[in-house]
Amino acid sequence: MKSKKGKLVTFEGPEGSGKTTQIRYAEKLLKKKGYKVLVLREPGKTPTADAIRKILLHKNEPLSSEVETFLFLAARRDLVEKKILPALKAGKVVLCDRFQDSTWVYQGFAGKLSQKLIETMGDFATDGLTPNLTLLLDVPVSTGLKRAGGTDRMERKPKAFHEKVRKGFLQLAKKNKKRFRVISTTQSIENVQEEIKKVINYAFR
Ligand SMILES: Nc1ncnc2c1ncn2[C@@H]1O[C@H](COP(=O)(O)OP(=O)(O)OP(=O)(O)O)[C@@H](O)[C@H]1O
Ligand SMILES: [Mg+2]
Repeated sequence: MKSKKGKLVTFEGPEGSGKTTQIRYAEKLLKKKGYKVLVLREPGKTPTADAIRKILLHKNEPLSSEVETFLFLAARRDLVEKKILPALKAGKVVLCDRFQDSTWVYQGFAGKLSQKLIETMGDFATDGLTPNLTLLLDVPVSTGLKRAGGTDRMERKPKAFHEKVRKGFLQLAKKNKKRFRVISTTQSIENVQEEIKKVINYAFR
């Protein structure tokens, strides 16, 4: 089920770090370079994954990390089968707003599930599909939460949870230096874009 033709680039980071803002910029940049680009957002982008998104983000009812994991992975599997693999096979660049690293961080590192187990389940969900490049947009928790508005179920979790999320992402980046590039987004949107441009130009040289 694997494809070597296209490239998968993921955007990760805590709430309000600028993922959605910067993925749009990366899309413009890559299109200008002549690439065919598909932008996706997790969870969602297939009818089934969108239904799961509604449960995950908007239900007031608390969900255990175990239930969250099953739901996120089901949504991811559907997206991989129906959107990501076909696009990669067609030679496209797939830009994905969150992917497996978010599950490792939110349900594993911060959610206290076994990280090993999440890795195994994640491999099962994606057939081991690993991004070619991951941009980690890093921001202090209070700045990010202020930007994001704090309305969905994840954003309403306690501040200590979000501190663990930030720490988890940074730890993951340290462990996977080849795949990750860390960009601080405390600077202006334009300055972040300049850094994104450097990374993309190098990765797609
Ligand atoms: N570098 C920045 N400086 C100031 N404001 C920013 C910066 N980057 C993004 N923002 C603003 O912060 C808000 C959240 O940004 P965005 O939606 O891109 O973050 P996100 O990482 O996708 O958040 P979420 O995790 O909630 O999806 C937006 O209003 C955006 O315009
Ligand atoms: Mg977003």
